[in-house]
Amino acid sequence: MNASWEERPLLPSHDPLPTLETARLRLRAPRDDDLEAFFALLSDADSLRHWSHAPLRTRDDAAWYLRDIAAGRRHGTHLQWAIADRDEDRVIGTTTLFAFDHEARAARVSWLVAPAWRRRGVARESLHALRTYLAGATSLDVIVAEIMPGNAASIALATTLGFDAESARGVEGEHRFTLAMTVFAPRRTA
Ligand SMILES: CC(C)(COP(=O)(O)OP(=O)(O)OC[C@H]1O[C@@H](n2cnc3c(N)ncnc32)[C@H](O)[C@@H]1OP(=O)(O)O)[C@@H](O)C(=O)NCCC(=O)NCCS
Repeated sequence: MNASWEERPLLPSHDPLPTLETARLRLRAPRDDDLEAFFALLSDADSLRHWSHAPLRTRDDAAWYLRDIAAGRRHGTHLQWAIADRDEDRVIGTTTLFAFDHEARAARVSWLVAPAWRRRGVARESLHALRTYLAGATSLDVIVAEIMPGNAASIALATTLGFDAESARGVEGEHRFTLAMTVFAPRRTA
């Protein structure tokens, strides 16, 4: 018999990271041979204008970054997917779940799509797949996007995806514009 939702662990399995497929995309664990792609993504100062850390400067930084992703997965502290196109398996973006709050059944989410791939629905398709996975396989209740006030693209994306400030009530917001999305709202009101 399946465990009830309340009995499920927050994250049932994260190492190996589940691969999530969409019509055009594959969300998968980053690999060592993604180093160049991750370096390109995360060394772009303009893309990282509203990011939580400074742009990577060297390929050694990128190698360290990939090791940190693997450690986060092993320890369950942050789960980072590479967003790859299904045809060629090239990394064109990334999305991360982090800051897991077991009591609130909440986590933070971040996203990044390579400039050449923007406005083609990559973030929308990826986050839809992630949300479907989280609703079905985990007992996370809320994912929160903390977005800098000037980050118009991310605010627009989050709004399009259904994130709303009302859902963020009770989830600590600090000094940033905080949106939240209820992953499985009906369970809370049942
Ligand atoms: C935010 C970001 C991930 C969007 O990725 P994307 O793949 O281009 O987004 P999508 O094509 O899926 O856009 C979906 C919807 O979001 C909104 N949107 C996305 N980018 C937008 C922009 N630059 N301006 C206005 N609306 C935007 C639109 O409503 C869009 O739908 P539409 O194209 O049909 O109008 C991308 O701009 C990015 O990587 N930004 C830098 C990284 C960053 O700041 N991350 C935030 C840290 S949490």
